[in-house]
Amino acid sequence: MDQIIVKTHAKINLTLDVVGKREDGYHDLCMVMQSVSLHDRVMLKKTKEEGISLSTNLPYLPINRNNIAYKAAELFFSATGIPSQGLSIHMEKHIPVAAGLAGGSSNGAGVLFGLNRLFDAALSPQELRQLGLKLGADVPFSLLGGTALAEGVGEILTPLAPMPNCHLLLVKPRCSVSTPKVFGKLNLKEVHYHPDTSGMLQGLESKDLSEIAHRMYNVLETVTGKDYPEIGRIEEKMLSYGALGSIMSGSGPTVFGVFQQKSQAESAFRHFRRRYRDTFLCTPSNLGIHSK
Ligand code: C5P
Repeated sequence: MDQIIVKTHAKINLTLDVVGKREDGYHDLCMVMQSVSLHDRVMLKKTKEEGISLSTNLPYLPINRNNIAYKAAELFFSATGIPSQGLSIHMEKHIPVAAGLAGGSSNGAGVLFGLNRLFDAALSPQELRQLGLKLGADVPFSLLGGTALAEGVGEILTPLAPMPNCHLLLVKPRCSVSTPKVFGKLNLKEVHYHPDTSGMLQGLESKDLSEIAHRMYNVLETVTGKDYPEIGRIEEKMLSYGALGSIMSGSGPTVFGVFQQKSQAESAFRHFRRRYRDTFLCTPSNLGIHSK
């Protein structure tokens, strides 16, 4: 095999709770994560030229070590002991960048997954997830995909009952958000409300979409939502179009709404599409990283 194409899915957080701060500056989290159908494509190809070359359809993305996909390839070669060799990575990006949708993490995950196949390295899913954690806290979930409870910094994963079928509207305001800055601004002593994670798990178990939608809550929205009031306005608008619930994903700023009715989701999509370039109508996905 000389090349492989991998699909890497975005995620949303149905809940995001921050439960503590660690010595290393990272935070202990408790999150219900959900993959969505929106995805990027990562093409990996063995080449005759030495070294790793990276290209993407977004001219403003770094194509060196500052890109998580490049870092993932270096990490793969050093961890497996396979001599670094000619490799070209092309990423076709659809997931918005710095959006709270783990687009970059999914690309890193895709590179690890794809290289494992391309070079017959036979790393187990568990080994891949451990390697992925070195790239970022969301990478292990990106490899697993579907619906999962993520604890620790995001690496302790428990697969959950899949989210029932529905329509998910994603809208990213024009601002981009830095995850370290959002965590940096969070003062745990001022966090008085936490999501009802066990209620969310029950909602998933009983496949009750309105229960799920009513339990959605993201602690980081208290930070990003204060800086960008537009986030709250988008949520209200989504509810007025019939969303069962609407919150921010990850550290933001993307807002998503959960719709039962396709027609309502489509009307809302048309409304937001005129105002925000990064507007996507998608569905929950039960797939992790996979090749075409
Ligand atoms: O791991 P990742 O690169 O996605 O994290 C980006 C930043 O977000 C970290 O440098 C850290 O500041 C913050 N973070 C955190 N606790 C987590 C995950 C991320 O404080 N569990």
